[in-house]
Amino acid sequence: MRSELTRKTGASELIGQSPTFLKLIENATRFAESDSFVLIQGASGTGKELIASLIHRRSPRNNRPFVAVNCASIPDTLLESELFGHEKGAFTNAVATKQGLVEVAHGGTLFLDEVGDISPAIQPKLLRFLETGEFRRVGGTNLLTVDVRVVCATNKDLRDEVAAGRFREDLLYRLNVITLRVPLLKERKEDIPILADFFLKRKAKAKYSKTLSAGALSLLMEHDWPGNVRELEHVLEGAVLLSSSDSIEESDLSMYFHRSDRPVTGQEPAGPRQQAEESTSLEALEKLQIERVLHQQNFNRAKTADALGISKKTLYLKIKRYGLKVEE
Ligand SMILES: Nc1ncnc2c1ncn2[C@@H]1O[C@H](COP(=O)(O)OP(=O)(O)O)[C@@H](O)[C@H]1O
Ligand SMILES: [Mg+2]
Repeated sequence: MRSELTRKTGASELIGQSPTFLKLIENATRFAESDSFVLIQGASGTGKELIASLIHRRSPRNNRPFVAVNCASIPDTLLESELFGHEKGAFTNAVATKQGLVEVAHGGTLFLDEVGDISPAIQPKLLRFLETGEFRRVGGTNLLTVDVRVVCATNKDLRDEVAAGRFREDLLYRLNVITLRVPLLKERKEDIPILADFFLKRKAKAKYSKTLSAGALSLLMEHDWPGNVRELEHVLEGAVLLSSSDSIEESDLSMYFHRSDRPVTGQEPAGPRQQAEESTSLEALEKLQIERVLHQQNFNRAKTADALGISKKTLYLKIKRYGLKVEE
């Protein structure tokens, strides 16, 4: 579990050219130098984690760990011991003393993702830690101290959470000394072309990456992107799989952009992809493609994963999710 929580973010690049995005990067870089708490607010998929890692990399702490904890994905009962550690015998299964992630992050940056989801039971302990740098391991009596810079992110409006009684007001004031707001992708559409180009280059297995046709690009520009940059990344991934030439055409995106999204003008051309076009989602297409390659590779999962350009673990998860047959 720890290895999933703790992740050193490598040379993750932040791409953008819109004035709002550049301003955000400028501010993040400026705040990176200090040790102040930073709260990054923005919808899911807007790049909050990348910005947190940028703050770390541009800070004097950059040769120390960057430890990311997703507070929403860890059950309440575990979060406290994950964050602050536990002493041997603190609870059943606590067979040995374990360091908390705050200790792992010592000297570096602790990134608390989805901080709005921290349960009211843990909030006072977090507040105390933020104010003093002190904490106790679960089941421990000694007061321990570490030196970490805390960066938080949330896709919620924490003021609403306070109003609803789910989030402590004093914790909010502690956290949002500096708030960085990450704009939605639809509020900075100038970023779409260079983001698309970046993702296509990154996905390219061969030397040459596919390019976007003008028609395909205009589809991307028209879309609202409720899933923001993450959604764009996934759409392009699907389009690369689908396209059979060096260029991504509008038809390679038709799976994703449901016809109801925009007015249908005239007759859609019938073609070899007609069957696939009848299914409505990218997921349906993915399922189909995995099934096909599994057959081709005689259900050899390692070869199938290779052919699809995904890890064996990802393949396994997708097989489970789609309930696919794994042998003849
Ligand atoms: N400006 C950007 N440049 C390049 N990749 C980005 C950018 N913003 C987001 N991404 C990519 O989009 C995905 C979602 O970003 P992430 O930081 O996890 O978003 P959030 O934490 O806000 O949900 C990641 O794969 C990330 O690499
Ligand atoms: Mg995130």
